[in-house]
Amino acid sequence: MTNPSIRPRTTKDLPACIDALAIVHASDRYPVNWPDDPGRWLTPSNLVKAWVAVEGSGVVGQVGLSQLDAAKLEPPLARAIGTPAGPVGSITRLFVTPQGRGRGHATHLLEVARKEADNLGIPLVLDVSDDDHAAIALYERAGWQRAASARADWLNAAGEHALLHYYVSPETARKPTQTE
Ligand SMILES: CC(C)(COP(=O)(O)OP(=O)(O)OC[C@H]1O[C@@H](n2cnc3c(N)ncnc32)[C@H](O)[C@@H]1OP(=O)(O)O)[C@@H](O)C(=O)NCCC(=O)NCCS
Repeated sequence: MTNPSIRPRTTKDLPACIDALAIVHASDRYPVNWPDDPGRWLTPSNLVKAWVAVEGSGVVGQVGLSQLDAAKLEPPLARAIGTPAGPVGSITRLFVTPQGRGRGHATHLLEVARKEADNLGIPLVLDVSDDDHAAIALYERAGWQRAASARADWLNAAGEHALLHYYVSPETARKPTQTE
């Protein structure tokens, strides 16, 4: 672990993560719609691991690494990463509370997830809505590369089908993917 403010998330962290998510939802409409079961939203069935960013004893942010089925990737994204045969990692549920922002927490959360994907030997991708300018700036500053864009089936805050940009991690962009 390179940064002392980042540690693996435990079940005991979930209430604090839900509180932090409520603050982020109120300030940023992330997620666009408040989930019926926020605890489940933070622990999707394909989650591999999650980490929290802490300041003092308080959780100010978190990120998850989930595993996608390569066969179900958006075709342009699959092509961009060489149509992998095995699992693909995906950054999910990344957020930092407004009080914790601008201090590199999201950058460090992304780094630990990247390291984990690298250790697992899987390509790593993420998607971001085109109206999320802060997150796009974060990813591009950290060297993520835009590989494809496509409309989502869910509606953004403006009531339109969100335009999603798909990014690949710097490691994934550098390494050729194993294909069948
Ligand atoms: C996006 C988000 C995670 C950034 O968290 P953060 O901890 O403040 O990010 P960092 O401090 O690591 O920022 C790193 C870089 O990202 C970019 N960045 C972050 N916030 C930005 C903003 N509001 N405007 C422009 N660039 C921004 C900058 O390049 C920044 O580097 P700098 O501070 O040296 O200029 C946070 O704003 C957030 O939780 N937003 C709502 C939820 C969300 O959009 N999640 C992503 C879903 S895909």
